[in-house]
Amino acid sequence: MLIRMFYVSTAVGPLTTTVTGTILRSAQAFNADNGITGVLCQGQGVWLQVLEGPRSQVNTLYGRISADKRHKNVQTISFEDITRRRYGAWAMAHVKLTDADPMLGVNASAAAFDPYATTGERVMSHIDTLIAAGKVMGKPVV
Ligand SMILES: Cc1cc2nc3c(=O)[nH]c(=O)nc-3n(C[C@H](O)[C@H](O)[C@H](O)COP(=O)(O)O)c2cc1C
Repeated sequence: MLIRMFYVSTAVGPLTTTVTGTILRSAQAFNADNGITGVLCQGQGVWLQVLEGPRSQVNTLYGRISADKRHKNVQTISFEDITRRRYGAWAMAHVKLTDADPMLGVNASAAAFDPYATTGERVMSHIDTLIAAGKVMGKPVV
């Protein structure tokens, strides 16, 4: 049984592309071995992650991720049964929500996107727009 879930969380400390890259490098092997695909978005101090895969594996991983001290205020946005994966091409794609990166000193120019304050549908559509615009930084794993 396949499910898709996503959550939002707040990074503890500056959230940079380097921090997310380090997490993903160690995550990709585990995800590939456990049939987990999805997207990890970062920006403006928040992470937004979509996890797809067998229900039991996704729940086990989500338990570990929730306990990770690198972030706090982990809030589930959506959880649903699926028949087809939406992000099946990625053991975990890496997408930047904005170009703001504390290490680069670049400020967000567009209106801030606040995933804590919007619906699951809007969050998913925002992610899809970023992917369609070629904002995926992670290497696809098929
Ligand atoms: C925002 C965020 C996303 C993460 N995503 C994944 C992931 O997709 N897969 C994974 O194996 N670990 C992921 N991790 C790392 C896990 O929280 C955890 O550190 C890792 O699974 C090792 O667990 P362990 O220390 O209990 O062995 C993520 C961590 C954070 C902070």
